[in-house]
Amino acid sequence: MWNPDVYRQFQAERDRPFFDLTAQLPDFQPAFVTDLGCGTAHQTATLAERWPEAQVTGVDSSAEMLAQAAKLRNLRLVQADFSRWLPDTPQDLLLSNAALQWVPGHPALVPRLAAQVAPGGVFAFQVPGNFTAPSHLLLAELRSEPRWSKLLGAPERGPQSLSSLDPLEYADLLTPLGFRVDAWETTYLHLLHGPDAVLNWVRGTALRPVLARLSPGDAAEFEAEYGLRLRVAYPQGPSGTAFPFRRVFVVARRTA
Ligand SMILES: C[S@@+](CC[C@H](N)C(=O)[O-])C[C@H]1O[C@@H](n2cnc3c(N)ncnc32)[C@H](O)[C@@H]1O
Repeated sequence: MWNPDVYRQFQAERDRPFFDLTAQLPDFQPAFVTDLGCGTAHQTATLAERWPEAQVTGVDSSAEMLAQAAKLRNLRLVQADFSRWLPDTPQDLLLSNAALQWVPGHPALVPRLAAQVAPGGVFAFQVPGNFTAPSHLLLAELRSEPRWSKLLGAPERGPQSLSSLDPLEYADLLTPLGFRVDAWETTYLHLLHGPDAVLNWVRGTALRPVLARLSPGDAAEFEAEYGLRLRVAYPQGPSGTAFPFRRVFVVARRTA
């Protein structure tokens, strides 16, 4: 279950890569636009503003996220798993921000999604590239300790199964499929404020599926121990709590 309120806590930081991605889109007039893993769709809505004539669709599997999205106008919303979803018509812009990585082995999905892009159309996405950051490693370390591994079992969609490729690897996937690729990475230095800022951040994403598998009492204990380790790894400094966050971007235009 996604919690839109918790996820939105760091909205400015989470929105910035979406705008950095869309700033690199070509000057074109897409008629069919889809945002995969649109969440609350407030970003998707900016695509509808940019191309008012386009049919803009948001796809997400979470009923909670889509309930928020339904408050916005001019969007077509589809509740679906994007690893199986197929559009009715080829898309001029197929976009995804911070969502593809939730499908284990998502690189295998890339050619299938790319095939849904119309000639001259664009496949643009951003995925986190921070899976070896202390926030992820500490979570993996804690959950593999005997106290927790017997309750949590092997990670299915948990952080250990999350990963992403380097920019060149995405380019090498898409170029042979007839795309001209612009791929890059950015490490944002988020300076977070308040106590347990990194814990609060991770509560909205990678920690969520782990806690969902524990009883409320165990979840509170797990979170307290994880929070303790995060405070050591990410100390508060004079500028706040520094939380470097690497992200990988791809803007690929179909030329063939
Ligand atoms: C980290 S949020 C990003 C939301 C939005 N794109 C943003 O950047 O604010 C990831 C979203 O992807 C959705 N999601 C994850 N896996 C999905 C799947 N297989 N099919 C559809 N939606 C999925 C989740 O429900 C969630 O809303």
